[in-house]
Amino acid sequence: MSFMQTQMLIDEAIEELQSRINDTAIIACSGGIDSSVAAVLAHKAVGSLLQCVYVDTGFMRKNESEEVSLMFEEMGIDLKVVDASDRFFRELNGVTDPEEKRKIIGEQFIRVFENEKKISGAKFLVQGTIAPDWIESGGGERDVIKSHHNVGGLPDDVELEIVEPLREFYKDEVRSIARELKIKSSERQPFPGPGLAVRVLGNLSRERVEACREACHIVETRLQEAALDGKCDLPWQYFAALLPVRSVGVHGDVRVHGETVVVRAVTSLDGMSAKYSPIPHEVLSKISTEITNALKGQVNRVVYDITHKPPGTIEWE
Ligand code: XMP
Repeated sequence: MSFMQTQMLIDEAIEELQSRINDTAIIACSGGIDSSVAAVLAHKAVGSLLQCVYVDTGFMRKNESEEVSLMFEEMGIDLKVVDASDRFFRELNGVTDPEEKRKIIGEQFIRVFENEKKISGAKFLVQGTIAPDWIESGGGERDVIKSHHNVGGLPDDVELEIVEPLREFYKDEVRSIARELKIKSSERQPFPGPGLAVRVLGNLSRERVEACREACHIVETRLQEAALDGKCDLPWQYFAALLPVRSVGVHGDVRVHGETVVVRAVTSLDGMSAKYSPIPHEVLSKISTEITNALKGQVNRVVYDITHKPPGTIEWE
């Protein structure tokens, strides 16, 4: 997209936000590209009428909360951090169905925001929903593939007017806008709204989420390092998911019955379709060894996902 086209999209979005928002608005900022772009546009449009809130669900990546706080501080935008992890873990305890998880996460987000609304007196909720989110959530004529948390989980009794400035945009357009607005996360890989919750299949215990967080961190670090060393291209998205599949392994002389980590790395333009990335074996080998060492006794098998989208989706839930 050309500079002029991007600038036009930015101007139109700011105008639209100014015409819609006439009172206090809140926005959930995860630090991801979509919510950051929505926040910066809304901040430009309505300034101090906007209150940015970062909800720590307990499903964020390693060091993410600190990095997001710093990013907003550098952009000169106030960010309130709310630790809601107890509430999320409590409500999701024992829930294993992916769609049920997403609905609960969406609903808890709204509950946290209703609380923030009471505190701030906000009338509007700005969201970073982009086109694939609602298309895949059954917004068109298609089947529901998965309810993206900022769409499917919305309860009927929500008492905030929803404003979605990126609703018609695709990921590559949002990325161009982010670059233009000099948002630090513009080159970061996408991360789903429900966070690691959709990467931990089965029960969402703190221990299992922590294992997934560590495995994701290892995959991210090793692939970024491999790309810097020219061993492979940096995939569009790359992460680990924890599967509740136990297999027999051995550590020293001891039998282990641990779970499985799947490594996922894909190339894509907008997340609507994707090809699995050809990662060199030596990099996969390093990742596998590091994960099983870091998660000794808990994970004893690492597999690489060679499924394109379609027929798979990028995330495992
Ligand atoms: P799937 O798994 O549907 O993912 O192929 C396509 C892209 O969307 C991200 N994703 C989400 N993003 N809320 C989001 O904001 C969600 O609920 C959600 N689910 C998946 C996924 O990481 C990928 O980039």
